[in-house]
Amino acid sequence: MKKVLKAFLYLLLFAVVVLAGAAGYVSFSGIPKYKPQKLDIAVEVTQPRIDRGLKLASMLCHGCHFNSETNKFTGRHMDEIGTDFGTINSLNITKDPEKGIGKWTDGELIYFLRTGVKPDGQYVPPYMVKLPHLSDEDLLSIIAFLRSEHPWVDANPTELPPPQPSFMTKLLCQFAFKPFDYPTKPIADPDTTNQLEWGRYLALYQLECYSCHSKDFTTNNYLEPEKSEGFFAGGNLMQGFEGMKFPSRNLTPDETTGIGKWTEEQFIKAVKFGLRDGKPALRYPMLPYSQLTDSEAKAIFTYLKTVPKITHQVPEM
Ligand code: HEC
Ligand code: HEC
Repeated sequence: MKKVLKAFLYLLLFAVVVLAGAAGYVSFSGIPKYKPQKLDIAVEVTQPRIDRGLKLASMLCHGCHFNSETNKFTGRHMDEIGTDFGTINSLNITKDPEKGIGKWTDGELIYFLRTGVKPDGQYVPPYMVKLPHLSDEDLLSIIAFLRSEHPWVDANPTELPPPQPSFMTKLLCQFAFKPFDYPTKPIADPDTTNQLEWGRYLALYQLECYSCHSKDFTTNNYLEPEKSEGFFAGGNLMQGFEGMKFPSRNLTPDETTGIGKWTEEQFIKAVKFGLRDGKPALRYPMLPYSQLTDSEAKAIFTYLKTVPKITHQVPEM
C-alpha cells in the first residue's frame, strides 16, 4: 500500500512540475512569433482611394484607434475589452515615423492587416481586427487613407504602452488563435449589380457583421464565416461601456426571434442610425454605420433574408 501511495505521490509531483513548467513557458515566452512574408507593393495614393479609405477607416478602424483628446488615430486604452484578455491599448497609427506607422512599408501594412503578423514577427490576437477577405481595392484604399493628409492620421508623437496580454490570451495564442494565411490570389471587388453578392461581401468580408452577431467570438470561423456557430443568431455577450454587458441580436430571417418581419426602412434606420421603433437606441459596440449608403444597407438586408433561419430568442438587456 505504502509503495502505491509513494508512486502516486511521485506521479502527482511529476504532473505538478510539468504543468508549472508549461505555465511558466507560456507566460514567459508569450505570444508566438511568426515570419512575415516580404511584399513588394507600393500603393498609389489617389483621391478616389483616399475617399474610399476614409469611409472604410471610419467604420473599421476609428472605433478602436481614434483618440478624442488628440482627435487623431493615436490609439486609446480599450476599457471595454475587460481584463480577461489583459490590459489592452490600441496603438498610434498616425504617420509619425517613431511613435506611429510612418516607417512601415505598404507591403508590411498589407501583410499585417491580412494576417495579423507585424514586421517584427509579433502576432496580434483577435482584439485587433484582421481582414483576410477584404477586396484588394478596399485594402489599398485603407492604406492610401493612412498615408493621406487627413487630420486623423497627421503625424503625432502620443505614445501608449503596448498591450499586456493576459495568461489566457497567451495560452489561446499557443493553441487557438493563429495568423491567417496571406491570400494566394487577387481578391476582386464584389459585383454591385448583384444585391445578394454585394450584401454578402459587406456583411461577411468587409464589415464582418457576423463576427459579433453569431454565438461567440471563440466559435466564429473567420475564414469561412458561414460555418460559425449560431451564424447570425445573436447572443454573443458583449462588453459595452462602463462595464455593461449585453448580447448581440438575432439577425436571421426568423419571424419571431429574428428580423424576419422587419421592413427595409426599419433595418436601414437601425443600422445607419442605431434607431428602433419604440425601443431604446442601439448601444456601443453596435456603432451606427452612418457612412453606409442606403443601397449598401439594402444589399445587406437582402443578403440577411437568405441566411438560414435560427429560432433563438435573445433577451433584451
Ligand atoms: C477592435 C479594435 C481594433 C480595430 C477595429 C482596429 N484595431 Fe488596429 N489595433 C488594435 C489593438 C488593440 C492594437 C495593438 C495590438 C498589439 O500591438 O498587440 C492594434 C494595432 C494596430 C497596428 C500596429 C501598430 C504598431 O505600432 O504595432 C496597426 C498598423 C493597426 N492596428 C491598424 C489598424 C487599421 C488600419 C484598422 C482598420 C482597418 C484597425 N487597426 C482596426 C485594435 C484595433
Ligand atoms: C462590434 C460588434 C458588432 C458588429 C460588428 C455589428 N453589430 Fe449589430 N449589434 C451589436 C450589438 C451588441 C447589438 C445590440 C445593441 C443593444 O442591445 O443596444 C446589435 C444590434 C443590431 C441590430 C438591432 C437588432 C434588433 O433586434 O434590435 C441590427 C439591425 C444590427 N445590429 C445590424 C448589424 C449589421 C447590419 C452589422 C454590420 C454592418 C452589425 N450589426 C455589426 C453588435 C455588433
